Amino acid sequence: MANSGVEGRDCFTSKFGIICAAAGSAIGLGNIWRFPYVVGDSGGGAFLLIYLGFILLLGIPVMLSEFIIGRRGQRNALGSFKKLAPGKQWYLVGVMGIVAAFMILAFYSTIAGWTLHYVTQSIADSFAGKTSGEINQLFDSFHTRSFLPLIWQLIFMAMTAWIILSGVKRGIEKYAKVLMPFLVLMLIIMAVRSITLEGATEGLLFLFRPDFSAVDSGVILAALGQAFFSLSIGMGALITYGSYIKKHNNLGNISVEVSIADTLIAILAGVAIFPAVFAFGLAPDEGPGLIFTVLPNIFQQMPGGYFFSIIFFVLLAIAALTSSISILEVVVAYLTEELNITRHKATLMAAIAAAFVGAFCTLSFGVLKDVTISELHIFGLLDFTASNLLLPLGGLLIVIFVGWYMKPSDIKDEISNSGTLKVRLFNVLMFILKFIAPIAIAIVLFDSLGIIRVN
Ligand code: PHE
Repeated sequence: MANSGVEGRDCFTSKFGIICAAAGSAIGLGNIWRFPYVVGDSGGGAFLLIYLGFILLLGIPVMLSEFIIGRRGQRNALGSFKKLAPGKQWYLVGVMGIVAAFMILAFYSTIAGWTLHYVTQSIADSFAGKTSGEINQLFDSFHTRSFLPLIWQLIFMAMTAWIILSGVKRGIEKYAKVLMPFLVLMLIIMAVRSITLEGATEGLLFLFRPDFSAVDSGVILAALGQAFFSLSIGMGALITYGSYIKKHNNLGNISVEVSIADTLIAILAGVAIFPAVFAFGLAPDEGPGLIFTVLPNIFQQMPGGYFFSIIFFVLLAIAALTSSISILEVVVAYLTEELNITRHKATLMAAIAAAFVGAFCTLSFGVLKDVTISELHIFGLLDFTASNLLLPLGGLLIVIFVGWYMKPSDIKDEISNSGTLKVRLFNVLMFILKFIAPIAIAIVLFDSLGIIRVN
């Protein structure tokens, strides 16, 4: 078990360990699966610019706020609010986070299951010699089935639960530390292959040349949702992790470093995907299946592609695991600390419940594809509600809590580690937390919902 910290709680043991765990949470399917497909659906370069603006202006402040709440509260997402604002309704932000955690875990495990299936397909060399049409066909016939995708989803959920059961340090730190750098290396190799394909320039232009004519409130909301999803913020995952961070670690630095790493990896994934999309004559806006139809084409065009594809999908599955454990941990920490359920029981209960909801997400590509609410099937509905609505709303309330409810002296105490670190730009940070972030998030959220009308 991990070192004990304040009040005997588990703690991350080193600065490197925390960075890896927080980066492990942030870096996952959000960067490599979700980012490219949302960029593709949202028209490319203009989306990217808006996304980068949101990361800088809103993402980093919300992440820092979560760490502050968690480390000061020394509890799970809900308990930290109870502790810092006793007798107030702020704990409802934690409740919302737990709901969001369930939803995200449900659809996340669908895609993670697909990833596991692609590991086996890579090993079986199923993509060899296939045209891009045939590769599409393979994906279609797999993900619309009922049984196989469900099995993979369950296997993934079981792996997540198993890691959570082995505790904070041994479970999380160990896996994250060694493997993330390899994933980055793989992406660099794939990006190089992709941009040297014939016809690749068009993909780079799609990603990097902004065309604002395609931007509407839906695109802006999608950028906000993607920024929050990718940084793992807005639902208390980083409040929970923050409660495991030791008193001498520098929360500001961790927030900036994790956000930069997360963003670079998303862009790298974009550079690996889009040139290939155009080079192979595929469509950038084909949705959640994008990487599964594009990447096998790239591997086919690489010397050693057989081995690369196995390694890549294995690493992607591991990246997904280090994210899914941070989502499950939100629920498990709540159940154990607030309801006194044993860690074992809590993990099983949460994983089974999430797998149950997740099954509907998986089947919504197949037998349940005609079950829709306002044109979204179950998977799309959960993804939209959690990522684009609950996370921004959670983030909004989190910055309001830190900016307006907490005492500035407490915030300063937390970021300066009780005065031992020099805090630069404190007033700028407070201004962002009090005004810029809440107003910007509120405008994007409420405008896209039609609650207010900008222009
Ligand atoms: N950020 C993770 C990813 O990019 C997903 C995640 C969302 C994790 C919300 C925790 C909380 O894959």
